[in-house]
Amino acid sequence: MTSSLLITGASQLLTLRGKAPRRGKYLSDLGMIRDGAVLLCSGLISAVGARQEIEALPEALSAEKLDVGGRVVLPGFVDSHTHLIHAASRVEEYELKIAGASYEEIARKGGGILNSVKKLRAATAEALKKRAHGALREFAAHGTTTLEAKSGYGLDVASELKILRLHKELNAEQPLELVSTFLGAHVVPAEYRRKHAGAERYVALLTETLIPEVAKEGLAEFCDVFCDRGAFSRGDSRKILEMGRQHSLAPRLHAEQLTRTGATQLAVQLGAASCDHLEQVSKTDIRALAKSNTVATLLPGCDFHLGLRHYAPARALIEAGAIVGLATDYNPGTSPTVSMPMILSLACTQLRMTPAEAIAAATINAAYSLRRNRQIGSLEAGKQADLAVFDVNDYREIPYYFGLNTCWMTLKKGRAVFQKAHA
Ligand code: NIG
Ligand code: FE
Repeated sequence: MTSSLLITGASQLLTLRGKAPRRGKYLSDLGMIRDGAVLLCSGLISAVGARQEIEALPEALSAEKLDVGGRVVLPGFVDSHTHLIHAASRVEEYELKIAGASYEEIARKGGGILNSVKKLRAATAEALKKRAHGALREFAAHGTTTLEAKSGYGLDVASELKILRLHKELNAEQPLELVSTFLGAHVVPAEYRRKHAGAERYVALLTETLIPEVAKEGLAEFCDVFCDRGAFSRGDSRKILEMGRQHSLAPRLHAEQLTRTGATQLAVQLGAASCDHLEQVSKTDIRALAKSNTVATLLPGCDFHLGLRHYAPARALIEAGAIVGLATDYNPGTSPTVSMPMILSLACTQLRMTPAEAIAAATINAAYSLRRNRQIGSLEAGKQADLAVFDVNDYREIPYYFGLNTCWMTLKKGRAVFQKAHA
């Protein structure tokens, strides 16, 4: 049996090859090859180029053949911000939001993140895993091949470790690659809110107990904090992220989502891998991001789901030269979607990004934010054979057909992990 696969018949092959990360005008450089071909060997890409050139390679002659019939081929999406493990939806809050209750009002009444914490603590690891497996199959069906997953609905030692251990198990049990992030600093849990100096004591639990334990067990690569009104202050965020960094957990940050806290400046000072949300960023924040290697990860699914009209200033960020990324922020409170194609649609119509910019933000720049741009995010020889094939003949149709999933096939390390059923 051969482990080589020759893919031909792509009307457009988006390689995303070259410069990583992409800034400014390079963000729209898709490295497109018309009538291109890709040769995959043992889970890696061994050659990419014009069909005639690739077909003539000796390895190509003996490879299994896949003609994609004029469809569009691109790197699998890299979803760099998800809250994968949660016990249930929060549909009971949906109509409250539609009727005008704000995210913060719902949270103050015991809804919001604390609602999900209650549900997660009551759930068994088996039930959480089953739900996550279902979601991962859906991610694959929408063209995603790698995703970051945050803890943060446990907020006590046992429950946070339970989530992070599930990330590890899920990584081993199914084909998509998970990148684990510790988000013990999502909000202060209810039992600490009732204590004297509860917030300080919870920060101490994170820095003195949880972060060292997470690092010791090798359960996460990144440490994240929700820095906002009603969550963690900038001072606490710094303490937590610095302790994470001392334990080799690279910082990322939920920043300027509901209010402007200065979290972006902190992220840049700490050399964070990513700074996410950014609806409320200022001009100075944009300049700081532009000069840094911190990815500005935009999450338009949140504003869409919460019915907000104020989206992050994507154009200003791109024009200033910041590294812009896009992610679903899959979570039950603000963005219950696994669909990167839908995020691309929102990026185009609401953030005014072009389809090309949105695709680069959801592939190579997202891979850079996960510190994996040498392995994934583009179709180049030596990289992982992570590909998505869409049933369109022009890549711009991926976001254009909003709400419709045109993904036809997804390959992870050269293996099909999703294939659309024949009609
Ligand atoms: O990325 N902002 C904080 N965390 C999530 C929301 C979590 C929730 O509401 O359950 C977010 O939007
Ligand atoms: Fe989030």
